[in-house]
Amino acid sequence: MNKFYITTPIYYVNDRPHIGHAYTTCAADVLARWHKAKGEKTFFLTGTDEHGIKVQQAADKSGKNVQDFVDENAQTFKDAWQKLNVQYDNFLRTTDEKHIKAVQAAVQALYDKGFIYKGQYEGLYCVSCEQYKFEDDLIDGKCREHNEKPVLMKEESYFFKLSQFEKILEEKISSDELKIEPPERKNEVLTFLKSGLKDISISRKNVKWGISLPFESSQTIYVWIDAFLNYLTGLGWDGENKIPPTPPLKRGEGWGDFWPPDVQLMSKDILRVHATIWTALLLALELPLPKEIYVHGYFTIGSQKMSKSMGNVIWPEDLVQKFGGDGARYLIMSSLAWGQDGDVTRERFTEKYNADLANGLGNLISRVAKLSQNAKIKNQNDSAKLKNDKIQKLFGELKFKEILDEIWGQIAWANKYIEEKKLWELVKSDPEEGKKVLGELLGLISEIGEELAPFMPATSEKIKEILASGKIELLFPRF
Ligand code: MSP
Repeated sequence: MNKFYITTPIYYVNDRPHIGHAYTTCAADVLARWHKAKGEKTFFLTGTDEHGIKVQQAADKSGKNVQDFVDENAQTFKDAWQKLNVQYDNFLRTTDEKHIKAVQAAVQALYDKGFIYKGQYEGLYCVSCEQYKFEDDLIDGKCREHNEKPVLMKEESYFFKLSQFEKILEEKISSDELKIEPPERKNEVLTFLKSGLKDISISRKNVKWGISLPFESSQTIYVWIDAFLNYLTGLGWDGENKIPPTPPLKRGEGWGDFWPPDVQLMSKDILRVHATIWTALLLALELPLPKEIYVHGYFTIGSQKMSKSMGNVIWPEDLVQKFGGDGARYLIMSSLAWGQDGDVTRERFTEKYNADLANGLGNLISRVAKLSQNAKIKNQNDSAKLKNDKIQKLFGELKFKEILDEIWGQIAWANKYIEEKKLWELVKSDPEEGKKVLGELLGLISEIGEELAPFMPATSEKIKEILASGKIELLFPRF
């Protein structure tokens, strides 16, 4: 049986989630649902990144105790995902005791293998990125991502021998053994690798909110090292650097059943660290690399990246409250072509909701359900299986927006067909022909319901109920 392991980044808990985080998470949920529906052994991991200065500073600012602060904010992520009908298999928090132990075991293993040495760090650091910066990462002395001045750091620190993985990573990425999509992102990583990898500082003397370094407890482990390992600990890995023994363990019981990730989703901001530090850590631990990193663009507002640091966000809860969980999922998933940035506004979301959901899908279903009820005709096609080869293919290629465009093409066709046939008159003037057309439309709607299931699971269920019972329900009220 095929297995499918998909991850999202684990998000910082300095605030609650905005729709950028929801985009990655919903996309992972769509793919996980599609693989589950095909009967594959699927694991979908998400979670929260809770250590480091950025989170510590946000907690201090709020006046709360850090643990209470991260508990509260981690819960806001879980709540948002529940409202968006996201069904993950595990939600990993980096303050979890098991994760902490495993991270220490992994760092100890790296030390024992000779990949870690003591040195002196001197350079710039952007707190919002939680990343070290080089001169060419800056514009006018400020971080490109956050428009913020990095701080100068000079301290004793432990280093990871990242530089020795430069060649091997270049090989694995250029040969697509580790596939990075879309291609422009792959090129970006290859160009970066060609400019050379430097060893990186992986411990901090002055950061208290973190996991202590097992071989020098006065230092904490760099938050990114802690965070990357979630992809392993989230499956139950305990820090041992070996694939577990056969026979294969049952789902949820053995991480080796799922390793490596089939797809890791994220946006451009964190691709470089994933493609270099994360992959090098795995190579050092002698673990297989992820098969694919699939990178999407940014939601922007007035062409600026939407972000908590920039303060220009749209909250998923607001979308859910207005448009429902599935409505919000649809709007989030259909706004951007994968890989592209795009501006979003509340007004545009409302327009799209009215056009595609209220007038498009909702109208089709209510018209056909009403006419069928009057004509006392039921859907014959009650075991609709996903037959549309084009959609299957697009799913395999992870082309979310194209799948939705395809489905909405069918919806538009069906609504036009009703108009052309003047179906509401036809059922009276020529009942036989009217029933035939209604039968076709019911079949098509049931297929559309199946196709939509990974994107709009609750709506897909409702469509099934409407088709089975003939009861009419308003799916998407107009605004
Ligand atoms: N904690 C790190 C990730 C560690 S993973 C081992 C982190 N967290 S984050 O909260 O900043 O999340 C970054 C991710 O959130 C992006 O890669 C993307 O998945 C999502 N997005 C954040 N802002 C976004 C937009 N404006 N638009 C689209 N996605 C966005 O980095």
